[in-house]
Amino acid sequence: MPIETRSLRPTMGAVVTGIDARRPQTAAEVAAIEAGMDRHAVLVLPGQDLTDEQQLAFTRNFGPLEEGANSTVRANELRLAPTFADVSNLDKSGAKLARDNKRRMAALGNRLWHSDASFRAVPARYSLLSGRIVTTDAGNTEFADMGAAYDALDAATKAEVEDLVCEHSLIYSRQQLGFAEFLPDERVSMRPVLQRLVRTHPVTGRKSLFLSAHIGAIVGWPRPEAMAFVRDLMEHATRAEFVYVHRWTKHDLVMWDNRTTMHRVRRFDDLNVIRDLRRTTTRGDGLTVTEQAIR
Ligand code: OGA
Ligand code: MN
Repeated sequence: MPIETRSLRPTMGAVVTGIDARRPQTAAEVAAIEAGMDRHAVLVLPGQDLTDEQQLAFTRNFGPLEEGANSTVRANELRLAPTFADVSNLDKSGAKLARDNKRRMAALGNRLWHSDASFRAVPARYSLLSGRIVTTDAGNTEFADMGAAYDALDAATKAEVEDLVCEHSLIYSRQQLGFAEFLPDERVSMRPVLQRLVRTHPVTGRKSLFLSAHIGAIVGWPRPEAMAFVRDLMEHATRAEFVYVHRWTKHDLVMWDNRTTMHRVRRFDDLNVIRDLRRTTTRGDGLTVTEQAIR
């Protein structure tokens, strides 16, 4: 089957057919997908009816896995292997999570625009999200093109952001949603990391804004001034002209480059409707800031 790529938007998003993600990929197929990612940043592969093992094997074509995405869930409560981020609203027994369930609360963070694992010193490269049970009228996933958002900044703002460094932590994104209590060991494991605000894609050389809900400070700036500026940039970067809205079909496999995009999920009736999406993630290429030491 020839690989075909059809653009969804001029600068980001494409549908790829002619790949069977259930099977081992040839080097040429992997290279074609990586080239598609470099060009489009978000690829939609429809009709991929994957088992967990097949999803893991397909993901490994793109580098080592990022594990432990469910870091706040105790191991004996996990529904999926720790190599998966469980993006469902289901518990281990297959029942829908209760309204006050801790995992449900943490998952609400996905409603904020973010880049996966930007709170890790080495942030994620690709995320691959498999739609096992999907919602069709709500629960869309939206993607923002951070390369186009960077390009559209005026020259003065580009100069201002060029060398800025932000602090990212899960604590900051949770605080935005009103989480106030963090255990002492969570404060240690969620210690902020440093990330450049402007990244350069290692293959295309394109610059992009590295924004995320996990940002809570800009190094050297008063905090309120930093957060007001980050809000301005977020508002700019998520204007409709930079956004692709993905409406799910069962067995879609959607993969995105966290280095050049942000994403968020939209609200759906999660207390009554099942949505079972499973994410695998590959590790990034390195630090964006060499001096990681932080207080
Ligand atoms: C994710 C995520 C959004 C969604 O898997 O990283 O943010 O649509 N998911 O569930
Ligand atoms: Mn995410």
